[in-house]
Order: sequence, then structure tokens, then C-alpha cells
Amino acid sequence: MRSYKATMVEPVRLLDRADREAALREAGFNVFNLDSSDVFVDLLTDSGTGTMSNEQWAAMFTGDEAYAGSESFRELEAAVRDVMGFERIVPAHQGRGAENVLYGALVTEGDVVLNNAHFDTTRAHVAANGGDPVDCPVPEARDGDSDHPFKGNFDVETGRRVVEEVGAENVPAVVLTITNNSMAGQPVSVANTREVAAFADDIDATFVVDACRFAENAYFVQRREDEFAGESVAAVAREQLSYADACVMSGKKDGLVNAGGFVGLRGEDAAGRGPSGNPTQSDDDLYERCRQRGILFEGFSTYGGMSGRDLAAFAVGLREAVEPPYVAERVAQVEALCDALADRGVPVYQPAGGHAVYVNANEALPHLPREQFPGQALVCELYREGGVRAVELGRFAFPDTDRADLVRLAVPRRTYGPDHLEHVADTAAAVCEKGEEVTGYEVVSEPPMPELRHFSAELRPV
Ligand code: F0G
Repeated sequence: MRSYKATMVEPVRLLDRADREAALREAGFNVFNLDSSDVFVDLLTDSGTGTMSNEQWAAMFTGDEAYAGSESFRELEAAVRDVMGFERIVPAHQGRGAENVLYGALVTEGDVVLNNAHFDTTRAHVAANGGDPVDCPVPEARDGDSDHPFKGNFDVETGRRVVEEVGAENVPAVVLTITNNSMAGQPVSVANTREVAAFADDIDATFVVDACRFAENAYFVQRREDEFAGESVAAVAREQLSYADACVMSGKKDGLVNAGGFVGLRGEDAAGRGPSGNPTQSDDDLYERCRQRGILFEGFSTYGGMSGRDLAAFAVGLREAVEPPYVAERVAQVEALCDALADRGVPVYQPAGGHAVYVNANEALPHLPREQFPGQALVCELYREGGVRAVELGRFAFPDTDRADLVRLAVPRRTYGPDHLEHVADTAAAVCEKGEEVTGYEVVSEPPMPELRHFSAELRPV
């Protein structure tokens, strides 16, 4: 049962089939090119698409729009310190802005960055700075049937092997993405976090947590990791993040806002309050380098591309994200969608991730060879069939990787009801029933950076 009610609504409509077909064609069979008004249930992303609370809207009216020293920035700083434990932040317009700030400060030509799995923008930022992004998922991550409780974990053995090959001096950063978006939104345990922190320390690398979905991850830890059974989600989140030297945050996820992000760092905050970790000279250096890059690319270091009202709503949202009824219902809604799909015979990755359900298109459309992008075929068909927008995170989005052709149904926070998700499950089941009627696709135009292909490439049916 949801512990909130809607006091503002936005109409949605289901176009008729001929109009959906025309819209899809017009979009070059890439759903990123669709107008949102032509989409009935939009599960493209959970990023910046959620519903804010009345307290967040109220906070927006108190936003301090000062260029320097905004009070709203101080509110965000305080929320980050209380909820996530980082004393200093470099604000950014969204997560990838924070990635540009941090990875630009850490990575140089020829470096290797290790991650349980790089999200697409993370991969692109490491590569843009001349680095080689290497994924180190645990083997269970690729098994959509394994019931391993933490399939998002980082495989330290793989990490060590890479370090032996390339030399520790060429690995400036080890990143842990919680939850692991590119591996079906699976959680990472605190035990694994400690292990990765020790590994990063051994090789003298900066340990970065990509904390976009830290609250959802903490909820999984509370439920699945014995040590934390009696702990609050807030306490788990602080414990897990306490091992990181730095974090990258997109407020558009567990900040419960439509825009914003930051790099979280160790050290003394503006009020001279002491660090929770052991800040060193290198913490100060990293903060200063990030701050200067932030000023250059994002805006002065007390707004970083966010308006004062964005900062104020973000501060409230971060605190709401670890509240027990919110985060429990959030994850339960995603699990309910996963169950509804599985009940209808749709091949879903199990267990469900924190923010999304992933459908295995290789199993759903086995007649399509991988070169014909079964994932993208499924995405197009979901729109054709029911006006549902999903995203491909397989060979179309990641041309150079061998990952399965997964299609992600990401659930915006506090937005859709059970009837919408029922419609999604019925639509996906109808698509699976079509079987060989569903055609494959080929790419007809694509941008120069392969890491960003799925955002703007155009395709046609083959
Ligand atoms: N890191 C992870 C793990 C992400 O999932 C995202 C965004 C980012 C960084 C970048 O943050 O969008 O604020 O610039 N993920 C969105 C998604 C876009 O749909 O999964 P951003």
C-alpha cells in the first residue's frame, strides 16, 4: 500500500495503433526520438522522471538564488553530510556533469578504470579522458536465473588480474556502482564494498562510489545481508558510503528531483566540521581540482548548474529517499512488475533490480540474430503494441561488449499506479506471443562516439 496520495495529476493518452506506427517510423525506430506526449507509459528511465513531494515543492519556494554562498546550497551540503556522510560537495547539473568533474580530475591518457560495471555515461567520461573502462562484475551478474542476493558485486579477483597486467600506477580509480545499473540494477553488499575499498587502498587508487541509487541499494542490504537485518536503511546507507573516498551522485535518481548532481568528497565542510573518514592531503588536492573543474564546466561551487530552488528540493529529496515507507514501496513496485511479467511468461532477469525490470530479448525473440538487435526490436514492439517506452541496454547501446540483449523497464519514482504496470505486463506478453512476426533492425546512421550510439542512432527494419 502506498503511503502517499496524488494531489496533482498529468493526463496521459494511448494513441491509436496507426498513429503509434507513424510516430515510431518518424522517430527512426529509436524511441529516444519520440515525443513524450505520444507515449502512454514511459519506462525509458527512472532518471529525473519521478514525482516530487509537497515538502519538496514547498522547499522550492524558499530557494536562495544567490550566485555565491546560497543558503539552499548549505541545505544540500547538510543533507549530504547527514544522509550520505560526505563533508564536501562539488555541485553539478546532473550525474554526468559530476562524472566529468571527477573523472577529468582523476584519469589521464593510458589509464585504466575498474568498475563493477560502467554505466554508459561513466564509460564515455572515462574514455573521453583517455582511459580504458574495464568492467569487473561477479560471474552471477550475467545469470538471470541465479538467486545470488548481490549480483551487482564487484569481482575483486578480476580487478587484481587487470592490475597485474597493466600496473597499479595506471589504475587511478576503482568505482563501485550501487545499484549496478548496467547489470540489471542488482545490489552490492556492504561486505563487497569493504573488500573493494581494501583493494583500492592496496593499489593506491581513489575508491569512488557511484551512489545514484544508494538508498535502493541500502534497502536490499537491510533485507539480504545478515549483518544489517536490524538496521535502518539510513544507517546502512551511511555505513556503505563511509568506505568511499569520493562519490558521484545524480539527484535525478535517489535525490528524488528532476535535475542536479554532485561529487561528494572527504574533508572539512564549510562550517569546519570534521571528516568522518581520514582526510589526507590528497583529499584536499582532489577536492580543489574538482572544485576548479566544477567552476569551469558547471558553475560556481555553491550552485554548479542548479538553480537555488533545485538545490532546496534536492536537500529535502535526499532525506526522503531513506525513509522506510518510501524506499520499501518503491522497490516493492518494481518487484510487482517483475512478478507480473514472469507470471505471463515474459523472460525477465531475476531477481528484479531496484529501479527497473530487465527483459531478456534473446530469450523473448530467439529467432532474431544478435546482429539484428533483438533488444531494439523488443523496444519498438512494446511501443507499437501498447505505447510503452523502454530502453535497450544490450548490443545496440553497448556495441563493444558481449552482454546479453536486455531491455530495461525503468519505473519512475512515485509516478505510476498498479494499472499502468499491469498494462505494461500485458503489452510485453502480447509482444512475446507474436514471436517470429517481430522483425529485426539495422542501423542506418550513428554518431561518432560508439558509447553514445543508442541516444541518437537511427534504424530500419530488416
Ligand atoms: N551513473 C549511473 C549508475 C547512472 O544510472 C546514471 C544515469 C549516471 C551515472 C548519470 O547520471 O543522468 O544524472 O547524468 N542513468 C540514467 C538512466 C540516465 O536512465 O539509467 P545523469
